[in-house]
Amino acid sequence: MLNHESNQRLCRVGPDDVMGQAMRRYWLPFMLAEHLNVAAEPLGVELMGERFVAWRDDSGRPGLFHQSCLHRGASMRLARAEGDGLRCIYHGWKFAVDGTVIDTPNVADPNFKTRIKGRTFPVREAGGLLWAYLGPAEHEPALPHWPWMDLPDAQRLVTRHVEACNFVQVIEGLVDSSHLGLLHMNGLQQSGAVDLGFAQKVNSMQRNLAPELDVQDTDFGFYYAALRKIDDENGQRTEARVAAFVAPCCVLNPNGDIATFVVPQDDGRTSFIHVFWSATQDLNREPLRSRHLEFIGLTPVVLDDFGLTDETLGREDRPNPRNNFQQDREAMRQGKSWSGLPGLIEEDVAACVSSGVMRDRSREMLSTADVGIAHLYRTLLACADSVKQGKSPVGVDRGVDWSQVRGTQGVLGGDDWRELLVAKHPPVSEDRG
Ligand code: FES
Ligand SMILES: [Fe+2]
Repeated sequence: MLNHESNQRLCRVGPDDVMGQAMRRYWLPFMLAEHLNVAAEPLGVELMGERFVAWRDDSGRPGLFHQSCLHRGASMRLARAEGDGLRCIYHGWKFAVDGTVIDTPNVADPNFKTRIKGRTFPVREAGGLLWAYLGPAEHEPALPHWPWMDLPDAQRLVTRHVEACNFVQVIEGLVDSSHLGLLHMNGLQQSGAVDLGFAQKVNSMQRNLAPELDVQDTDFGFYYAALRKIDDENGQRTEARVAAFVAPCCVLNPNGDIATFVVPQDDGRTSFIHVFWSATQDLNREPLRSRHLEFIGLTPVVLDDFGLTDETLGREDRPNPRNNFQQDREAMRQGKSWSGLPGLIEEDVAACVSSGVMRDRSREMLSTADVGIAHLYRTLLACADSVKQGKSPVGVDRGVDWSQVRGTQGVLGGDDWRELLVAKHPPVSEDRG
């Protein structure tokens, strides 16, 4: 539970909000790299309560411009794409992707342009994504280097959809293991029959609906462990599923093959990016790509039907809180569907968005099932407090070894789930001879 003031502090991400300032101290993924074509038209980007324009110049360099022109604020979405830069149509000032001012045709002094810099932001391209840093230049950290960034494109599948609520409640669903066996009951029941590695790994979750939960703070955020005692034909055992929350808005799944980034577009709309990868399979090639997307429920058709694309978000003819997400009560009555919703993603979206655009946390009743949720609040608020006090937020300037940060799962040999972290990430031997 959080009082109104703390809830606002947690959720609001504009440039003048303390959480907004904290999140601007990290690199944030803002779009799929493949969606920004060379020397194409400028694209509008909404990020952290501000409007930007993404554009790639003719040498392939991606750029992120503030939407409002440096001169007198005309929209750079209207700008002319001229190969080496974007030219504002109002008075013709022209800017390169790195902020260099190439031309100011309505100013007689030819040196004027060398004394000013365009409103652009540092952008990196890695792992199939474009990343932006919106914070103060003197605090720009290195872009985290995740192992999946080194894989060939064929082995990495990246998706993005949008949800009509605040980012924090979207992240909550990712550190909330106890909803899986209930909300996603139908999907889990089917998963045993699907011959996808991912589906097989989540199948056992339906056998214990009240997992024991624990958290462990780390230099990047925290680990979140769900422990399930299983007693079946294979005997008694404790299975642990450990997700990693990486500040400020990333969760790595226990199977160790999905990174999710939950990036605010503004206080009430959120970009949800999934990166799926495989060390051995061409996930991003057909037929595996479509099968994978169909199982998760992230096909273009599903996203369009449920109003989860930029074009369909908020449309009245799509599932939304006003039409009760077009829930199928008949299917529920007949026992065909637990939730009355068509798939995993739709279930998550409906549960999450239905709690309010920005959920009121002064009216919640957290329980032992919500250890991860409470810890998420604490960690995010700690990020905000650190920045307010002039310090670096969690995960920044901590020398994190990103190659070692991942989710994990397994059957416990002893009492402590942390053994899995050691077993999966053994210390490097000093004796290399
Ligand atoms: S407003 Fe853009 S050049 Fe004047
Ligand atoms: Fe879910």
